[in-house]
Amino acid sequence: MSADDLKRQAAARALELVEPRMRLGLGTGSTAKHFVELLGERVRAGLEVTCVATSEATQAQALAAGIAMTTLDAMPELDLTVDGADELDGELRLIKGGGGALLREKIVAAASGRMVVIADDSKRVATLGRFPLPIEVVPFGLGATRLAIARVAAAAGCHGPLDLRRSGDTPFVTDGGHVILDASFGRIPDPPALASTLAGVPGVVEHGLFIGLATAAVLAGASGLIEMGK
Ligand code: A5P
Repeated sequence: MSADDLKRQAAARALELVEPRMRLGLGTGSTAKHFVELLGERVRAGLEVTCVATSEATQAQALAAGIAMTTLDAMPELDLTVDGADELDGELRLIKGGGGALLREKIVAAASGRMVVIADDSKRVATLGRFPLPIEVVPFGLGATRLAIARVAAAAGCHGPLDLRRSGDTPFVTDGGHVILDASFGRIPDPPALASTLAGVPGVVEHGLFIGLATAAVLAGASGLIEMGK
């Protein structure tokens, strides 16, 4: 079975958690895309839900699928967000932002009563950090911000290059107009410590460590579905 089939299986299981009139957050990425596609089928068959997207890409996909979309201004509390992840550990701590949508993803997850992660089981790790940690920063003062991040990360036991993400010949720009530094730390020994120290660096808008946000995960593997949390 391909990784894409596994992603779709995880998305299909998460769809079973959706109930009529729920207020939903819709994630970003290839796994979340399956969820939006399957949700669209249910909506066209009569399911009533109202959703908020975590990216312009997901917003466009959901609208095209006929899903009723709104904003967190009009609907500031959500029942459930379903989103992918780049990595997760046994405590449901995540690295997100491989697709560049970490800022809106974190705002939407924080506004949700529950956040369910959907992924293929290759995303499960013992220690976070194999996947480069995305850190969203403002373009102004990039050199100084990068140096400050390197210093606080080293103090938290994290060492490695901080690469400016590119899109072709130019820096990748997020939906919020910022840029992303991908931090190849290899391992993050104390994710909460790194998360709080990064949040204090001027110029850092958000980072891809999601701690205490995911309430459950559905992981699809060759031997079936594994569910974590509740
Ligand atoms: C988007 O910014 C990311 O956080 C994605 O949710 C994450 O990269 C997982 O994407 P895939 O489902 O494509 O692996």
